[in-house]
Amino acid sequence: MVVFDSNSKKKNAKKERKVIVITGTPGVGKSTFSERLAEKLGALCINLNKLIMEEGLFKDYDDARGTFVADLPKIRKRLKKLIRKASEGYILVEGHLSHLLLPRDSVEMVFILRCHPEVLRQRLKGRGYTDAKIAENLQAEVLDVCLIEASQAYGEAKLAEIDLTEKMADMAVQEAYEIVMGLRKPSLGSVDWLSRLQAEGKLEDYLRDWEGLPMP
Ligand SMILES: Nc1ncnc2c1ncn2[C@@H]1O[C@H](COP(=O)(O)OP(=O)(O)O)[C@@H](O)[C@H]1O
Ligand SMILES: [Mg+2]
Repeated sequence: MVVFDSNSKKKNAKKERKVIVITGTPGVGKSTFSERLAEKLGALCINLNKLIMEEGLFKDYDDARGTFVADLPKIRKRLKKLIRKASEGYILVEGHLSHLLLPRDSVEMVFILRCHPEVLRQRLKGRGYTDAKIAENLQAEVLDVCLIEASQAYGEAKLAEIDLTEKMADMAVQEAYEIVMGLRKPSLGSVDWLSRLQAEGKLEDYLRDWEGLPMP
């Protein structure tokens, strides 16, 4: 199911649509987190991966990278329509490209979910990703690619970073809920995988894995 809508359950929905973008490197836990947060907020949740695959919103298949190349203009158009047709209240848009799709003024806030690269490596291996694809994704996580791109698109004031590594999804969802409701200050900039990997003696291995990869 692409769209999980529990807005109908919420009798006192807000009078406007509030879009929350949820981004992060593949495997960090976006879909799990977003479905639960949507339930808690009585929100519509749009899973971009599912939307892209079910509606063919890609340009072609990249054999070398083993991925479909998303058609961003088509996705933007479809998303605009979905949001316009949605009931009032919160709308979550989740996916690793979600921070590249919506105009600045139309987005209330952006969650950037993070996960320790070693944990991420195991998850991506479990998904059967090639070594090259794993290296590319771990590089993106370590070098804060989603965070930097989201900051460029929406400005730091709208961003909240949550490290899911040591957190059960429900704890992270509670934290996000409190941030959305204005009960908790969002955290930003506390994740520093480069320093962590260096302290753990693993940074050199990572740098070796990235040889030959284009800089993100
Ligand atoms: N907070 C968490 N703690 C431990 N494992 C998690 C957590 N969130 C998600 N997972 C697990 O990690 C994997 C990737 O989660 P998923 O939500 O599909 O990530 P994404 O949508 O970012 O690719 C799944 O196997 C999921 O069960
Ligand atoms: Mg997902």
